[in-house]
Amino acid sequence: MKIPSSLSFLGLVPALTAAASLTQVTEDFGPNPRNVNFYIYVPDNLPANAPILVNPHWCHGTAQAAFQGSQWATLASQHGFIVIYPGTPATSTDQCWDVSSRETLTHEGGGDSLGIVSMVRWAVDKYQADESRVFATGVSSGGMMTQVLVGSYPDVFAAGAAFAGVPFGCFAPPGNNTGQFGYWNSDCATGSVTHSAEEWGNIVRAAYPGYDGWRPKLQIFHGMVDETVSYVNHVEAVKEWTNVLGLSETPEEVVEDTPLPGWTKSVYGPTGWLEAYSAAGVPHNIQVQENTALAFFQLNCTADCFSWGQGGPSGEQAGI
Ligand SMILES: *[C@@H]1O[C@H](CO)[C@@H](O)[C@H](O)[C@H]1NC(C)=O
Ligand SMILES: *[C@@H]1O[C@H](CO)[C@@H](O)[C@H](O)[C@H]1NC(C)=O
Repeated sequence: MKIPSSLSFLGLVPALTAAASLTQVTEDFGPNPRNVNFYIYVPDNLPANAPILVNPHWCHGTAQAAFQGSQWATLASQHGFIVIYPGTPATSTDQCWDVSSRETLTHEGGGDSLGIVSMVRWAVDKYQADESRVFATGVSSGGMMTQVLVGSYPDVFAAGAAFAGVPFGCFAPPGNNTGQFGYWNSDCATGSVTHSAEEWGNIVRAAYPGYDGWRPKLQIFHGMVDETVSYVNHVEAVKEWTNVLGLSETPEEVVEDTPLPGWTKSVYGPTGWLEAYSAAGVPHNIQVQENTALAFFQLNCTADCFSWGQGGPSGEQAGI
């Protein structure tokens, strides 16, 4: 199916030049059935036990474009963390991620998500990184993949920040989605796929049946006049993730004009495990808020200031 050209993500902020460079990993890094490309940014003087951030690109994007199009590499040099920039397989349609197949929507099931998780596992081993502090963030198709990663691999990711994405499972085609890699679900994109919170929660739980361990915390951001991926998907994602995390759908706190004028932040759960940002007047071309995600992930914590995480000091989760 033809992807609207407006899906190209043009909101590029020129990044400051970072000292280290983007490197492609071509050695075998583990199961990667779809041949996702692996690029990594490792800052000079990487601290011991460094966190890892995964930043999947948007449709029509590349790992190189994601590297150049945000401040993440500069922030990684400043605060000492690794950034993995996966690139879509050569067989992908319009360089969009596989966020639709049964494989990608299943823990250890295959698809693009497994290739990306193999990169994380390889990097944890290679750089002795902190496996309790692995994060994902992306915009558009990268925001969709962020929600796929935290849904299919809750044991791998500590948190995610998704910009202009869709709920986990929303892009799956109707019926049997086995082998349906990279299906463009127009019904979802245009906002006509809706479910109850419980139904959405069941879709996520089915990715990893029987799992009752750590669930990543999540930020979602969406422009309220998004013309490509309907804002309905933001509302549906709040239903989905509050259900998965066992939180009330009524926000604990609503803060206007945060982080930008016209953006409204809604905080769910007593420990703020879910944050949803509605950006008034903002189309699909949403401005990535690196510093808001950085603080949520505590990626600016370089010493003993990290207060949560998989197996972290408090083991705190969602206040439940
Ligand atoms: C779904 O499709 C796959 C591949 O075409 C097939 O192997 C599988 O049996 C199907 N599953 C069901 C439940 O129909
Ligand atoms: C990280 O950034 C947030 C938001 O700016 C700030 O509140 C927090 O104190 C910072 N943490 C560290 C360790 O600098």
